[in-house]
Amino acid sequence: MGRTYFRGTAIATACAVAALIAACGHNDDLQAPPADPDTAADQRAAALVAQMTTAEKIQMVHGTGMPTLGYGTFPADALSGASYIPGISRLGIPKVSSADSAGGVNVNNARVTALPAPVALAASWDPVLANEYGTRIAVELRTLGYAEGLGGGVNLAREPRDGRTFEYMGEDPVLSGTMSAARTVGTQSQKVIATIKHYAMNDQETNRNTADSQVDERTLRETELLAFEIGVKEGQPGSVMCSYNKLNGTYACENPYLLTDVLKTEWGFKGVVQSDWGATHSTVPSVLAGLDEEQPGAADDSNTSSPLFAYFGSYFNTKLQAAVAAGTVPIVRLNDMVQRKLRTLVRIGIMDSPPTAGGAIDEAAGNAFALKVAQQSAVLLKNAAPAGAQQAVLPLAAANLSSIVVIGGHADVGVLSGGGSGAVPAIDGNAVSSCQQPAGQLFGGCATWYKSAPLAAIKAKAPNASVSYFDGNDANAAANAAAQADVAIVFATQWQTEGLDLPSLSLPDNKADASNQTYDQNALIAAVAAKAKRVVVVLENGSPVLMPWLGNVHGVLESWYPGVQGGQAIADLLFGDANPSGKLPISFPKQDSDLPQPVISATDLSVKYSEGLLMGYRWYDAQQIEPLFPFGFGLSYTNFAYSNINASADGAGNVTVTFTVTNNGARAGEEVAQVYAALPAGLGEPPKRLVGWQKLALQPGQAQPVSVTIPAQRLATWDVTNHAWKINGGSYGFIAGASSRDANALTKSLSLAGR
Ligand code: GLC
Repeated sequence: MGRTYFRGTAIATACAVAALIAACGHNDDLQAPPADPDTAADQRAAALVAQMTTAEKIQMVHGTGMPTLGYGTFPADALSGASYIPGISRLGIPKVSSADSAGGVNVNNARVTALPAPVALAASWDPVLANEYGTRIAVELRTLGYAEGLGGGVNLAREPRDGRTFEYMGEDPVLSGTMSAARTVGTQSQKVIATIKHYAMNDQETNRNTADSQVDERTLRETELLAFEIGVKEGQPGSVMCSYNKLNGTYACENPYLLTDVLKTEWGFKGVVQSDWGATHSTVPSVLAGLDEEQPGAADDSNTSSPLFAYFGSYFNTKLQAAVAAGTVPIVRLNDMVQRKLRTLVRIGIMDSPPTAGGAIDEAAGNAFALKVAQQSAVLLKNAAPAGAQQAVLPLAAANLSSIVVIGGHADVGVLSGGGSGAVPAIDGNAVSSCQQPAGQLFGGCATWYKSAPLAAIKAKAPNASVSYFDGNDANAAANAAAQADVAIVFATQWQTEGLDLPSLSLPDNKADASNQTYDQNALIAAVAAKAKRVVVVLENGSPVLMPWLGNVHGVLESWYPGVQGGQAIADLLFGDANPSGKLPISFPKQDSDLPQPVISATDLSVKYSEGLLMGYRWYDAQQIEPLFPFGFGLSYTNFAYSNINASADGAGNVTVTFTVTNNGARAGEEVAQVYAALPAGLGEPPKRLVGWQKLALQPGQAQPVSVTIPAQRLATWDVTNHAWKINGGSYGFIAGASSRDANALTKSLSLAGR
């Protein structure tokens, strides 16, 4: 039986149980839910706050610098992470060391596991896998002594050239929020605080510290804030990280609407709002707006000698002490800030079981999981038969291959990963040593390559074939070799990093990425395709890529940044030992000019979301622009058919869509069956929105009945008059298919009452 994923399960269930108890009055047969663990956590925290001095309270609400940058002075137990907050031993309050952990623990000198990037995890569409992903990272964080992981980025891909696209979960709020919540639950199950970030509308790196995202209320609520709403309500992360940018004129980390009205009052968030590192811009305004923790802060803010002090600032140390003394920050607000931190430490289990440093990472377990994620997140974009042949080019059959040419992408030594705080160090050294890191650049420069060589893994799959490698610098030589081979496999790479946006979605050449590229990748692929009998392109990237050569190649496999077992996973997928089952979490456009924001301005600090609700596939649908590959698209080595759709609603307006998926092919495979909703006409909504899905494992010939329940809330629009969600009456279309643009999708109309 497949797994159904939609929002609201936890909420609906809890409400149902509570309603049942209320309706039935006290009923001995019905076990009352256990005492709310949050209440207990709050009570313990309040008792601690009551014993703390003002100085101790102040100490709890700011970091002391950034150990990994050597910014600040730290005791030996501070570890090498992104933040260190000392404990208060007389009260049994443990220290809190935090580390970045987007796709693995970002610390040096530890044998941590670099998992496939979060965008790859999103491509699996599997919250169970996301839960395991969060768990794996947390196990390694805690083994090293970290109490908090700064990993859960859910900023939406409004701008796919964003240099942090690899760190996030794509363009849809329901997919991003659901996958984030599952990851958070996994992380916190290991007694590690999870963060969700960057709150909010931090959707490009250009001018990130000063730009003003200008977004209308309805767009805000129905797009990126919906991802956060799902992530916060269903994942219950201990921390929410507010972002660098302004939102509608006010910095996110001192924005009362974001931090208090929406997050704390409407959503009931009881954890900690922590600033991004250097995103605090004031003391009183930010505290009163709802900021609870300044990062990285400074232990001694009289020492302003470091240039990083100017970047990071310090507002919650002596300035906060002065504000509390002056009464401009009421003591009750300071108490609330400390209460939030302490109740989170209690709720997640750190207060009673602080992590200890120095454990040994289980690398075998980490590698096995990294391989599993890479196999389940790769997306097969094209798989055609060469002219005159019956059989599609993939999977490769070793028995039929006597010569294979592998070309480019440093496939002889490793696989690519992204840069910045979302990176994970290459623990056995960078597989590519030819790059010289430009001096003094905080971001940009040399890419990270993990020593997981696709070439070696391909050779192992075809021991009787002659397998040669060409590095791609000589396109003619590679093309001529491809002409003589049974198949050519070209690796194409797109490096991206925090701090920079991509100049284009075009595959970078030595001008676009001088540090990491030495030739024109598109020209290489075109040259090989012109001569090869069979040619497959393997992509290693964090954002979509343009493919001017698509019509001339037979296969395209999207492997994202595939992590520390990426070479093996790519070979497993190419040779069919794993069947691709990923689906795109982000649209691939045909050209940059098809994007809602064709150009990212380097000078205009007003980032206007003039496209409104039309983010991602919503844009292409509404503008009737054909994407290169649509959101939700992905092929398999088998094929699936959809039949017998039906839809019905219960008394509360929750909709259940049923249909059958059949594996019509000759091998087992997994299918992500998606359900979209077309809202009633006249509401100003995009043509459709994702409302649910189910990932199915099907044997050959197996027909699986599918039932996807969609909570009424999933069909809501944001009413800007009443500043609330609204369920509109009218005729809804429910669409079940293999992607957001499946020509064979099934549709069923259903009239629903307004609420
Ligand atoms: C940053 C990033 C944030 C990261 C933090 C600590 O610049 O925006 O994602 O967690 O600093 O490294």
